[in-house]
Amino acid sequence: MNTLFYSRHLVHPVTLLSVAHGDKENIAAMSWVSALSRNPPLLMVAVSPKRYSHQLLLDSQEFAINILKDNQNELSTLAGTHSGRNENKWESEPFRKLRKTATKIGVPVLKDCLAVFECKLEQHIPTGDHTLFVGEIVHSESQTEANPLVLFNRQYFQLGNFVSKYP
Ligand SMILES: Cc1cc2nc3c(=O)[nH]c(=O)nc-3n(C[C@H](O)[C@H](O)[C@H](O)COP(=O)(O)O)c2cc1C
Repeated sequence: MNTLFYSRHLVHPVTLLSVAHGDKENIAAMSWVSALSRNPPLLMVAVSPKRYSHQLLLDSQEFAINILKDNQNELSTLAGTHSGRNENKWESEPFRKLRKTATKIGVPVLKDCLAVFECKLEQHIPTGDHTLFVGEIVHSESQTEANPLVLFNRQYFQLGNFVSKYP
């Protein structure tokens, strides 16, 4: 197996990382996202230092993870193929319409998506070619009737068939 492509064998959520600092704001697609701790509620996101979001996150010390629904793949592609260095993605049509103010932190978040987790940066760990950002969830909202967009082998999927309950 080519280890360069090991992550293609893992199933990922499709999320948008939202950050803002001063008059700068940004939104970028992030799939290397995972739960980390129940108490306190921590989640992690692995962000490459090449991303515009990376420095903004270090500066602001807070961020939101917006979990996309299974019909929101175009939002992911838009936020994941353009950089906030060159344009404010929040000003583009789809994001402008979906924008709302977060409850506990100073970043814009999506008003329609599967879930929003507002986080305060707990720590960051430079590791390999990404930085692991650990956030403590200070506020969350979710739509229980919606399903997540899934990334596998660099392609977007909807959830498949129900198999069985987790014991
Ligand atoms: C579906 C998808 C998932 C992505 N996941 C990540 C990720 O987990 N970490 C990362 O650093 N970049 C990831 N990217 C790449 C960034 O979203 C992309 O480089 C984006 O343009 C960065 O925007 P920024 O420069 O405005 O921060 C992903 C892109 C896509 C399309």
